[in-house]
Amino acid sequence: MSKKLLLKDAHIEGIRYLETYRKQGGYTAAEKALKMTPDEILEEVKTSGLRGRGGAGFPTGMKWSFLAKPEGVPRHLVVNADESEPGTFKDRYLMEFLPHLLIEGMLISSYCLGSNVSYIYIRGEYSWIPDILEEAIDEAKAAGFLGKNILGTGFDCEIYVQRGGGAYICGEETALLESLEGKRGNPRLKPPFPAVKGLWERPTVVNNVESIAAIVPIIDITGAEYAKIGVGRSTGTKLISACGNINKPGVYEIDMTITVEEFIYSDEYCGGIPNGKKLKACIPGGSSVPIVPANLLLKTVNGEPRYMNYESLADGGFATGTMMGSGGFIVLDEDQCIVEHTMTLARFYHHESCGQCTPCREGTGWMHKILKKIEKGEGKMEDIDLLWDIQRKIEGNTICPLGDAAAWPVAAAIRHFRDEFEWHVKNPELCLTQNYGLANY
Ligand code: NAI
Ligand code: SF4
Repeated sequence: MSKKLLLKDAHIEGIRYLETYRKQGGYTAAEKALKMTPDEILEEVKTSGLRGRGGAGFPTGMKWSFLAKPEGVPRHLVVNADESEPGTFKDRYLMEFLPHLLIEGMLISSYCLGSNVSYIYIRGEYSWIPDILEEAIDEAKAAGFLGKNILGTGFDCEIYVQRGGGAYICGEETALLESLEGKRGNPRLKPPFPAVKGLWERPTVVNNVESIAAIVPIIDITGAEYAKIGVGRSTGTKLISACGNINKPGVYEIDMTITVEEFIYSDEYCGGIPNGKKLKACIPGGSSVPIVPANLLLKTVNGEPRYMNYESLADGGFATGTMMGSGGFIVLDEDQCIVEHTMTLARFYHHESCGQCTPCREGTGWMHKILKKIEKGEGKMEDIDLLWDIQRKIEGNTICPLGDAAAWPVAAAIRHFRDEFEWHVKNPELCLTQNYGLANY
């Protein structure tokens, strides 16, 4: 059984409220942290090996150490709660059931980074969660954990919740900052990174909800103990939101030493595939990461079991591996059509492209159009090569990673399931989507 650090109290009735959270030891990590110096906290976070849980896996301690500290310029912590990656819903769970864990993590992080005003930027569609967060903020403030002179330390901190307007691109950190400043959410060119020039051009750390929540157990048990959990550079625990063709969809906390097979088939996690169907493929890290067929999902290129961690999932690079990403684990059984699935994703990325760069704005539209044609049974063999060519021209040629995120699912689908694309071209009369009318989607 995986060790639980974040969700250990999630089942306790009333844990959303301060009184119950305190009874379970809540805010003792903050009390401990506020007696430490900011540099000591930073050392703990670095020692823990925590990697950003939003998807990129960038070392959190390193990001914090990059924060510029010019004299007299305010600094900010911004929590990225714009969780919009298809298949990803772990931050929603954390915020809905354990809001004080996030607030406590924010208090410790804000103190460490020197942020007196910190923000939570939350996905607009999570319409019921800001009230939960604001209630928790009010409770924390009334108890002296936020506001002026927190716990008599002289440190002041306010937290504000900002609702997004429903655009996926605002989860990209620089688009998020633009939106938080009240502008259209267009990504900025990096560098400069937000750590140097972020919100209102001030040094800013943008971290995912789960990363900030993980700061609480790191301070609680120490960075060194946190680093002992997991394996290699995949330290600590990771939340996985599992969905698709599985018996038990939900949010699971794993310690990154379990195999993919165990995660899919064990009763502790996904509980297997309904109706005894066979596993066809999986997208383990949210829709932006490459799809992997079952044979490569259960073992690495070296024939080792594939584990649920950053390194093992990526084994083989883009040719045979995938990515841990945001931990949005989507399982597809033998009945799923890869072409239809890829078409649906292509539509999503086309719809969500901000339109600033030509390869993304035009390329995502072309990919959707061609995929729709193939799915409807109107495609030609050369369309498959055209599709391959377009995705290659998008990858690496755009301002933000949405371009890559749109290209990779198409590349991986053609690489691993080219026979299915060819089948659609050769058997137009059998293309089910045509009969169901789904290709107009
Ligand atoms: P990135 O690799 O560009 O950056 C990661 C973080 O490290 C950023 O905060 C960046 O500012 C910081 N960083 C990197 N180099 C730095 C340097 N030299 N100095 C200072 N800071 C530095 O990745 P990005 O664009 O932040 O995230 C992409 C990932 O987001 C994708 O892999 C995808 O899995 C994930 N994603 C997650 C979503 C969700 O709903 N959770 C939605 C869409 C994408
Ligand atoms: Fe906008 Fe796409 Fe360019 Fe990102 S890659 S800046 S979403 S057009």
